[in-house]
Amino acid sequence: MSTPHLQGNKGDYAKTVLMPGDPLRAKFIADNYLENVRCVNEIRGMLGFTGTYHGVPVSVQGSGMGQPSIGIYSYELYHEFDVQNIIRIGTAGGVAEEVKLRDIVLGQGACTNSNYAVQFGLPGNYAPIASFRLLRTAAETAEALGIKAKVGNLFSSDMFYDDADSLAKWQKMGVLAIEMESAALYMNAARAGRDALCICTVSDCPLRQEFTSAEERQTGFTDMMKLALETVTKLGAELPF
Ligand code: HPA
Repeated sequence: MSTPHLQGNKGDYAKTVLMPGDPLRAKFIADNYLENVRCVNEIRGMLGFTGTYHGVPVSVQGSGMGQPSIGIYSYELYHEFDVQNIIRIGTAGGVAEEVKLRDIVLGQGACTNSNYAVQFGLPGNYAPIASFRLLRTAAETAEALGIKAKVGNLFSSDMFYDDADSLAKWQKMGVLAIEMESAALYMNAARAGRDALCICTVSDCPLRQEFTSAEERQTGFTDMMKLALETVTKLGAELPF
């Protein structure tokens, strides 16, 4: 039973799926951190892998960039593959003054300029939020690992190159960082009755015109990976899997 975008069969994905935007990051994680790994998706080059980490089953599936793309993959994972937890692991641009390059941000909520919520026909604005269970587990895991993680609102933008130049306004509202996927992920999780969290590494601070090098992004990514995978092991104890 494959879907239009994922070729696997039911049971090919673990209950918890880590989702980097970049499919090659998914391969990097599979190659460097997972045991007993097999590739479960190659459609459109959007690589996905399933294996174990310290004995706990986990999958890693690329999401692509932007809300339409993560909207497709997370929908299929929740509804067709019965996935319980999706943890996005991505990069973000720092927005708040106190957010610096290489910081790790846990997205408690996700504001957006997207119309993604229109499909639900709600008589008002929806507030996309992370699963408290995943957020609490990740925050506790970060503390135990000595990784400082900031927790707060993200801004999921549909535009990377944005003529509206709106970041200063989002900053005034206390938004910590900008990225392009979390709001749709959180909405899909809510609609499916499942769990989602976004963990971001700050790769740039657009308001201050600060950017990390490719090497720095790799280091930041490693801390985020460690945090995500250790969070999975904690969740593993809760899952009948
Ligand atoms: N804008 C949008 N998405 C991003 C950014 C950014 O500055 N940095 C990393 N993802």
